[in-house]
Amino acid sequence: MKFSDAVLTWFNKQGRKHFPWQQDKTPYRVWISEIMLQQTQVTTVIPFYLRFMESFPTVIDLANADEDLVLHHWTGLGYYARAHNLQKAAKIIRDQYNGEFPTNIDEVIALPGIGRSTAGAILSLSLNQHHPILDGNVKRVLARCFMTPGYPGQASFDKALWQHSEQLTPMFGVANFNQAMMDLGATVCTRTKPKCVDCPLADLCAAHKNQVQTDFPGKKPKKVKPIKQTIMVMFTNKDSVFMYKRPASGIWGGLWSFYEISSIDELNQLAEKLGFVINNKQKLAGFRHTFSHFHLDITPLQVEISQSNTIINDNEQQLWYHLEHGANIGLAASSKTLLTLLAKQAV
Ligand code: ADE
Repeated sequence: MKFSDAVLTWFNKQGRKHFPWQQDKTPYRVWISEIMLQQTQVTTVIPFYLRFMESFPTVIDLANADEDLVLHHWTGLGYYARAHNLQKAAKIIRDQYNGEFPTNIDEVIALPGIGRSTAGAILSLSLNQHHPILDGNVKRVLARCFMTPGYPGQASFDKALWQHSEQLTPMFGVANFNQAMMDLGATVCTRTKPKCVDCPLADLCAAHKNQVQTDFPGKKPKKVKPIKQTIMVMFTNKDSVFMYKRPASGIWGGLWSFYEISSIDELNQLAEKLGFVINNKQKLAGFRHTFSHFHLDITPLQVEISQSNTIINDNEQQLWYHLEHGANIGLAASSKTLLTLLAKQAV
């Protein structure tokens, strides 16, 4: 059977058709889902997606929203650049496209945070426009079918797979075909234990024929990640802990975090700068947070203060976070862990 027919027949029988973003399909709704799904599993995404859509039902609502509220909706999903880019793109759509999501693929690709595959997915899934896609899941399916040498991100590998995707994407039924390819990759052609008995492409798959499925796609040669160290200082006063909003650029940009020092010797200086008088201090259990380019080993230091002369900045870059009541702010991943540690400490 022809490749696309096999995929479409499978989709009609087995495809997933009931996710929230598959109802009332608009470019805006599909865009948000595609961005959330980029690095996150479907089951994790669903509640985040529903909350996001309730708070920001249109692109204009997103463009006009308070940045902290948008990041708050992202807390727990990670990869916060995605949330920053969403709002940046929403503002462009509001200001340059009259609030209407562009329907020209080059204009969509030009928006922050949207590459060729995501643009193709948005316009094909919501409007049935004819565009190929090539996300991580689809790369795995195609690399196995054609035993394509190389690894994702390698120019020659990506180029060969884009050509396959262009040739295989059917003129009719593009939306179902693209959704089916992503679903196949996510549920059947999985990374470690592909379920080839359930696969509509098994007869067409070179890797299956040669029983070398898990050799494809190849792995990127590993670089050893450097390890960085930091001490995160949690100044506590009764039921509250002192936080500040990180600058827009750099790690955890725009998210709320704790002040950092590189050595315990710097604590007094920091406390003085903030106008705090230290009462007591203790180290809590350290942990590692791993970024794409390095490991960060975090030593939490809880510092109880007895007196504060701090005047909270008018520019709202600092706040006392109430441990019970919380706040509607975007927390850095490390902050969530640190707040949990602190809560354990309190009991
Ligand atoms: N991953 C990225 N986009 C997806 C989609 N539309 N369906 C399932 N998994 C996805």
